[in-house]
Amino acid sequence: MATMEVKFTPEDLKAAQSAERIPEPTAVVIFGASGDLTKRKLLPALFHLEQSGLLPNDFSVVGVARRPLQDEFAKDMREGILQFGGVKEGDAKLDEFMKKVSYHAMNFDDPEGYGKLKALLEDIDEKKGTRGNRLFYLATAPEYFADIIEHLGGQGMAKPAKGKVHVIIEKPFGHDLDSARHLLDEVNRVFAEDQIFRIDHYLGKETVQNILVFRFANGIFEPVWNRNYVDHVQITAAEDIGIEGRGPFYEKAGALRDVVQNHVMELLSFVALEPPVSFEADAMRREKVKVWRSVQPIHVMDVVRGQYGPGVTDGKPVKGYRQEDRVDPNSSTETYAALKLGIENWRWAGVPFYLRAGKRLAKRATEITIQFKQPPQLLFKNQSGPCKDLQPNLITMRIQPDEGISLRFGAKVPSPNMEVCPVNMNFSYADAFGKSSANGYERLLLDAMLGDATLFAHRDGVEATWSLLTPILEYWASTKPRDFPNYPAGTWGPKSGDELLARDGRSWHQL
Ligand code: BG6
Repeated sequence: MATMEVKFTPEDLKAAQSAERIPEPTAVVIFGASGDLTKRKLLPALFHLEQSGLLPNDFSVVGVARRPLQDEFAKDMREGILQFGGVKEGDAKLDEFMKKVSYHAMNFDDPEGYGKLKALLEDIDEKKGTRGNRLFYLATAPEYFADIIEHLGGQGMAKPAKGKVHVIIEKPFGHDLDSARHLLDEVNRVFAEDQIFRIDHYLGKETVQNILVFRFANGIFEPVWNRNYVDHVQITAAEDIGIEGRGPFYEKAGALRDVVQNHVMELLSFVALEPPVSFEADAMRREKVKVWRSVQPIHVMDVVRGQYGPGVTDGKPVKGYRQEDRVDPNSSTETYAALKLGIENWRWAGVPFYLRAGKRLAKRATEITIQFKQPPQLLFKNQSGPCKDLQPNLITMRIQPDEGISLRFGAKVPSPNMEVCPVNMNFSYADAFGKSSANGYERLLLDAMLGDATLFAHRDGVEATWSLLTPILEYWASTKPRDFPNYPAGTWGPKSGDELLARDGRSWHQL
């Protein structure tokens, strides 16, 4: 096991965070605040920023949703911070922070509600010193995005005379290429591109940003990071959970739209991109889009879909997808998708990339594995003993959980024979830097307040990824799956997912 020379404590990390990264006084306005995301992720992330001293003193959070919640809202958010933020009851800063949280009930299609919200925010400017700076966060169901944007524009809240306004839009940005373009146009009509932050929370994860650090802050990996040395790449985003009560949303989404079009495609771009000229929004955007545009049209034969049936998770029986609450008992929605694609450029021509994502799989694990080619001459091929065949080198990036990176290589087993077995050199985030309770939204909320779009999705990227996947979605819509459900909950997905690699003489790495 590899050990780091230096250990950092969370305090060291806090001290390393620059005071220059404290945003100006701001009111964060969350639309759809009664949903799970606000309680589980957004409020805990904002409180983590507060704990680290990264929020301005003059700060306010306004939750906006339809239900008349009032004081109940702050109570619920407080519980969320404790339960999902790893925060202890009695935390010195929590009560003070909660005084900055308020609620506004309105219907998203009611102009009067926006007028009242505007007045409320002006009042907050006066009382809390937020100076007209706003971060609007659209965390509603996607069908409300266009309405909200239009009303914010109509009420003069998008480009006010005083203060900076930024807007964060949660995924999904549309449900196919046409609808994404339509939404992108709607948003661009009201907000300037530099006000818009299309969030993909995977980009807020330390381990995802670390892909770039691993590749470009070290000299030894980049020379072998190409078709001359890499046999193939696997990217897996596996979840053991089901759809967690999100039936109506998931029925319209499915695994390809929910996770592959965004999170998995972002991972693909980070693994495959050329070194950008700088770590700035435009430079990053250019390189990412080049990757997606170099992906060859994906053949329908190279795509597999699956849906979980009843099974066992964590030792307990669980329902099949079709038995979940508010799901069609004959649903064709896929809860698993796997595909093979090729990036036809000088670096990657001929190297297959295998991607898969799914719910109710055997465990939660998001990993990227780079499998290297075997040495040209297999000196040690006559294996006996426990390790029969010589195994190829692997670099595995564990995005979550158990965050870290490992390198697999062959080592001589101590014995009178020349016997080679694979061993792992392992870097673990928790061992080196301590355990973190951050959920990825901290960095992104902070960046959006600061106006830094480097870690956000851009218009051309959204179009490029939808262009790749829309033909598959159209094909799926025209051919109903006959074998659904085709994998029991708690397993590694349908047989066809394994066959996709077996056809090429490969298999998914065990996670
Ligand atoms: C969301 C999807 O974007 O990402 C969810 O809508 C999924 O279905 C989630 O569960 C996974 O995020 P994480 O950070 O838990 O891997």
